[in-house]
Amino acid sequence: MAENTAAPVREAWATKIGLVLAMAGNAVGLGNFLRFPVQATQNGGGAFMIPYLCAFLFLGIPLMWCEWAMGRMGGARGHGTTPGIFTMLWKHPLAKYLGVLGLVLPLGVVFYYNYVESWTLAYSFFSVTGKYFGIATREGMSRFLTDFQGINSPWHVSLTAYIFFLVVFSLNVWVISGGIAKGIERLAFIGMPVLFVFGILLMLRVLTLGAPDPAFPDNNVANGLGFIWNPDFSRLTQSKVWLAAAGQIFFTLSVGFGAIQCYASYLKEKDDVVVTGLTTSMTNEFVEVILGGTIAIPVAFAFFGRDITLQIAQGGSFNLGFAVMPAIFQKLAFGQILGTMWFFLLFIAGITSSVALMQPMVTFLKDELGYSQKKAVAATAGVTFLVAHVAIFGLKSGALDELDFWAGTFGVVLLALIEVLLFVWVFGPDKAWGEIEKGAQVPAPRFFYYVLKYVTPVYLAALFIIWMVQQGPDVLLMRGVSGADAAWRWAARLSLLAVFGCLCWAAAKSDRIKRICEER
Ligand code: TRP
Repeated sequence: MAENTAAPVREAWATKIGLVLAMAGNAVGLGNFLRFPVQATQNGGGAFMIPYLCAFLFLGIPLMWCEWAMGRMGGARGHGTTPGIFTMLWKHPLAKYLGVLGLVLPLGVVFYYNYVESWTLAYSFFSVTGKYFGIATREGMSRFLTDFQGINSPWHVSLTAYIFFLVVFSLNVWVISGGIAKGIERLAFIGMPVLFVFGILLMLRVLTLGAPDPAFPDNNVANGLGFIWNPDFSRLTQSKVWLAAAGQIFFTLSVGFGAIQCYASYLKEKDDVVVTGLTTSMTNEFVEVILGGTIAIPVAFAFFGRDITLQIAQGGSFNLGFAVMPAIFQKLAFGQILGTMWFFLLFIAGITSSVALMQPMVTFLKDELGYSQKKAVAATAGVTFLVAHVAIFGLKSGALDELDFWAGTFGVVLLALIEVLLFVWVFGPDKAWGEIEKGAQVPAPRFFYYVLKYVTPVYLAALFIIWMVQQGPDVLLMRGVSGADAAWRWAARLSLLAVFGCLCWAAAKSDRIKRICEER
């Protein structure tokens, strides 16, 4: 292949505030508003917050700093994704294949994420037009959701859902075609302030709700907040709760995917990572714990009470966001406006994340194979569009859950473990710390040096082993899954494997990656 091996001038973030908004947009997603409240409720409410805080301190923050520092370091030499970055850390031919995980994991998420994101845009319209108004029960709204998704129709998808998917997918491609500063940064610049305003307004509405049904004075917002915040300490001994909390931290902060490195590679060499990385992490946590934790579950509690809210949480994130919330909006004054705000907020949260999920492959093709922006976007869009159909047609059969599991649960712990080992232990703890501290506006607390060196790797290894022993065999062998479900789940697995294989082949062919091993 004829390729230009000299690294071209790389794009960069145009402004500091744009960078922070784009990074916050990357992290703040559907996970903050839909996944977090359900995870917290299912895992003992307030008790969940202890393992969650531990995971934030010992995994989230240190990994975030590592990923920012690795990304900035790679970008300075023209390598914005993990195949190149890992090779810089470990000059071994295997490093690039480990790094391919940092392309496949975000793709594995975006294969289904775009589809869910398209529901939020559809429901924004349904709220504006009042389409679901009049179906005031939760059961009715659940039926509305399955009809909209079309999972019981012959094609397992409805025309409306498919059209919205096409629209949302095209919007994503349009944004990434614009590039880093003119596409992604601009989107975040407009979107994130809207998201904050809508989120705060919805939170205030929930907080001023009181007890909506005077016949049940105990079903009120204060008790709803208590329900999500009062700890149930007996759950702390269950390893399942610790796994779920770590999983939520990875998913919500977007760490362990390879996507943060990609955004950070567009920093300038002397830009700070310590304060900026922490600022975006804290912004994400504010949106997740304060806004995400106050809206959906407490409002469900106020309207339906404790037992039904527990049932709702068992029904999962989609049920909460797309069936329970619309049922509630119909009981409130200005319900159409509130509904529009809720779904449009989800849409913004979604799109600022989905572009971040697709960007690593684009950056990889440009940096390592010398593709033009157009060609790189076209190739990434093509793959994403194709495999998204596994998630769409296989929704009823659990294809989405399968993709989510491999990329979002299993893969992240593995990649996170690999990246700390390479960065801290192979590259060297002092060099790694030096990279983090370079250009820092305020030095990072020394405490985290030790956390990174010992606590984070052990924590990750423990999570991995506990999971393998407790749940591994059932999941790997798909126990209890058969027929069409098994077929779709296999389709999801094989798609991920095929994408992994193709990208390994591409990494093997890259002369720019080869040259890293020859340098110095
Ligand atoms: N953090 C996003 C959310 O909360 C989802 C996500 C997971 C993500 N991994 C990512 C986004 C990687 C961008 C890049 O919904």
